[in-house]
Amino acid sequence: MSPRRPASPPFLLTLDPQRPLQRQLYDGLRQAIVAGRLPPAARLPSARLLAADLGVSRNTVTLALDQLSAEGYVEGHVRAGTFVSRTLPETLLQIGASAPARGGRPAEAELSQRGRALARSGFPGSALGRPRPFRPGIAGLDAFPAALWARLAGRRWRTARVPLGYGDPAGYPPLREAIADYVRRARGVRCTADQVLVVSGSQQGLDLAARVLLDPGDIAWIEEPGYLGARAALLAAGATLATVPVDRHGLDVAAGERSAPEARLAYVSPSHQFPLGVTLSATRRLELLRWARRARAWVLEDDYDSEYRYASRPLASLQGLDEDGRVVYIGTFSKTLFPGLRLGYVVAPPGTEAAFRAARAAADRHSPSLEQAVLADFIGEGHFVRHVRRMRALYLERRDALQDAVSRRLGGVVELGPAEAGMHVLGWLPSGVDDARVSAALADAGVEAPPLSRYALRPLERGGLLLGYAGFSDRALRAAVDRAAPELERLRS
Ligand SMILES: Cc1ncc(COP(=O)(O)O)c(C=O)c1O
Repeated sequence: MSPRRPASPPFLLTLDPQRPLQRQLYDGLRQAIVAGRLPPAARLPSARLLAADLGVSRNTVTLALDQLSAEGYVEGHVRAGTFVSRTLPETLLQIGASAPARGGRPAEAELSQRGRALARSGFPGSALGRPRPFRPGIAGLDAFPAALWARLAGRRWRTARVPLGYGDPAGYPPLREAIADYVRRARGVRCTADQVLVVSGSQQGLDLAARVLLDPGDIAWIEEPGYLGARAALLAAGATLATVPVDRHGLDVAAGERSAPEARLAYVSPSHQFPLGVTLSATRRLELLRWARRARAWVLEDDYDSEYRYASRPLASLQGLDEDGRVVYIGTFSKTLFPGLRLGYVVAPPGTEAAFRAARAAADRHSPSLEQAVLADFIGEGHFVRHVRRMRALYLERRDALQDAVSRRLGGVVELGPAEAGMHVLGWLPSGVDDARVSAALADAGVEAPPLSRYALRPLERGGLLLGYAGFSDRALRAAVDRAAPELERLRS
């Protein structure tokens, strides 16, 4: 077979039909970017044009572009198309693969492919330091019962019931029992305590799951737009990312089956999709589980803030519907308690427990025993359920305050998305507005509202701003709406 010869300069790619086309296209475009043949901010031809030029399917092109986007080489702008990232580091542009780096530090080009992908993934982003409204995902830390927590910790020390030696990598046994009991009752998860692995926040759950379940190069579905932490964990495992669109019913399973039917794993946030806030419908849940069974694929269920559903009882988990042991259920105490605690849990499918436990031990042995013991007491003595109930009422008030302030000051400019669950709401901007630009302008005004496009690998039809409310008082939320209003009012048509 003769090699396929495409394309207009500067790509000049020659694809060998014997090797995976998507990989070659990814490599070719990446090299063109690194060598500066495709300069920062250059607009790429559309996927349709590239596919036609190169004589490959559009799917091949979009998989390659998604990977480049996940690794930070290209970026999408609302309705404008795909561009080479403006922020490529100088080292990447100037240093050849074997040249020594300035200052004796190894060049980025010498990292593993996974290391490079991670370095460019944009995770964890800038959302660290003191939170300002409307940073999403921040719990009401002002209302955490710190004195009670300190009393429980003090009691453990006083009564010499602190586990000081190495602990079980799967977690402190009474905590695993307490978690199993909680997720069975509150989330409809089907499990025993033996399946529960205590992890350092859901992030470690995602990381361990990706490494235990995927080989480098395996395809993983990710929600588009979706959670950057999931993307980073999958990139760290060497996965090839396949974006699957999310609509008002949640992940579009049929679209995933069309574009990447051979995927080995799907990441979903079914109770409250991050960042759009929609819920995965019952029909889609069944479709997803049917696909997983047929494809012998795994599903990662990220159930990060399902405790907060205001109009009805929390929805049961996807794991509870799974008859085939294909769903890995992941939960966290970052949203119900506080993220600095770094405790979460994985419910491993039957038969995978030993692999998860060994992966955890290989990573860092186990989570700190004192925090696990205090948390076991906190749950066991009923404080956890009471705290969540109190926080649900508080977050509802805060959500109402935000909705009210937005509709009074910004009605007609910012259109709020679904808000019946969670800790943030999406504020859609008028069509055609560059949400990254608006977000940057708001940051100058002291308001933190990440743009929706930050969470998307492809250009969006319409931009928006993430508005977290759980972590901020009514007053702080109203004041932030007032500070944001002048910039946003300018968008009024
Ligand atoms: C979608 C999603 N999953 C999980 C988490 C929690 O991460 P962790 O448990 O590692 O703190 C967050 C926090 O922002 C999130 O937005």
